[in-house]
Amino acid sequence: MRDEQKKYYIATFGCQMNAHDSEKMAGILNSNDYKEVSSPKDADVVILNTCSIREKAEHKFFSELGRIKMLKKKKPGLKIAVAGCIAQQHGEKLFKRASFVDCVIGPQNIYQIFDTIQHTNRFTLTSGGNEAIAETEMPVFRKTDVSALVNIMYGCNNFCSYCIVPHTRGREKSRASKSIINEILGLTQKGYKEVTLLGQNVNSYMSDLDFPELLAEINKIDGISRIRFVTSHPKDLSEKLIKIMKEAEKVCEHLHLPLQSGSTKILGLMNRKYSYEEYALKVELLRKNIPQIAITTDIIAGFPQETDYDHALTVKALKEISFDGIFAFKFSPRKGTAAALMEGRIDMAVGSERLQQILDLQNEITEIKNKELEGTLQELLIEGIDEKDSRLYTGRTRTNKIAAVPKADGIQKGLLLNVLIKKANRHSLDAVLA
Ligand code: 5AD
Ligand code: SF4
Repeated sequence: MRDEQKKYYIATFGCQMNAHDSEKMAGILNSNDYKEVSSPKDADVVILNTCSIREKAEHKFFSELGRIKMLKKKKPGLKIAVAGCIAQQHGEKLFKRASFVDCVIGPQNIYQIFDTIQHTNRFTLTSGGNEAIAETEMPVFRKTDVSALVNIMYGCNNFCSYCIVPHTRGREKSRASKSIINEILGLTQKGYKEVTLLGQNVNSYMSDLDFPELLAEINKIDGISRIRFVTSHPKDLSEKLIKIMKEAEKVCEHLHLPLQSGSTKILGLMNRKYSYEEYALKVELLRKNIPQIAITTDIIAGFPQETDYDHALTVKALKEISFDGIFAFKFSPRKGTAAALMEGRIDMAVGSERLQQILDLQNEITEIKNKELEGTLQELLIEGIDEKDSRLYTGRTRTNKIAAVPKADGIQKGLLLNVLIKKANRHSLDAVLA
């Protein structure tokens, strides 16, 4: 590392979209002769790429900001930039709340990161449109080498009543298919085997192609062996999409399809635009066409006006659908969203109790689902050596389950292996070479 080279450190909070935004900011800074360091202590610039999806995420950021403030006391020249969803939401107000912050940059502006950090008291924010970012090619500095995140669209138009994302990430705008394909072609040259297409609503992708057509095009790319995508909205899960998922051999048999609640009344209050029955029918259609598909979901417990009966409907839905895995959260009111103003807030303790019941039930279901895989053959994409046990390699099945195989000659990162599942644990599978 040359002495005059400026050094940056990025702390990333939140979702895969944020993780990928950090990879892009790193790519831009690296191409401007900056160098990433692994500790804020060694940095000239610290970028906090923030999340505001729930109150907890925001708390995490403010406590991290406190630590960085101490660091700046010792190193007054340190530049601090706040990026991501909190940056967009609080904007200029962040300077008042934390006067030691130098720059604020929103998610729609990450391509301007280099210019932004050249200044102090600079805020770079765009509200509304994602046109500019969708048309900007950005260098990406990925730390993974087998599986890559690729953005296909920006923003969200759905305005689910609880969600801050449409407020922080603006309106939907899809990237041109040519630019996505070119990026993936570049990834194959670097040896990547898997792509995960990213968007707040990937399946409402619409440019010169629609989403199923885009999948069909990516499926033709030599060198890529697997295609994944997150996150899909149930309302946009069309028969055309199910057909391509079934026919395109590289599209993996896994779908993350957030249900949020098993009560159609609550789904209405959430502005989800589907009933529980419609959701269940789509799951049925998916399983009829792709029998081995794994389906995962998100659930919110304790939404305003959720009665014991509504909660029981969610429990019933979990039993009926039998998801492979869920992410469940307690409702967290976000300022500026419709749900934050709704009457009928649920007592925190009741919300926690409902959440726990949901998590306990799902643990049982996940275990049963994983047990069903014992004795089956699965295709594993090797991602690297197991972090906890260096005698093992880990990878993922096409259905997105983590599995480990003992080290053996010839096994290496990026390899597709056929394995036999010997034992199912709650969160992973033990396998041997088939
Ligand atoms: N409170 C609780 N959970 C939320 N999510 C989004 N907004 C909120 C909120 N205000 C959850 C949803 C979404 C996932 C990414 O986070 O389940 O699908
Ligand atoms: Fe991602 Fe949403 Fe958090 Fe923003 S608020 S970082 S879009 S999860």
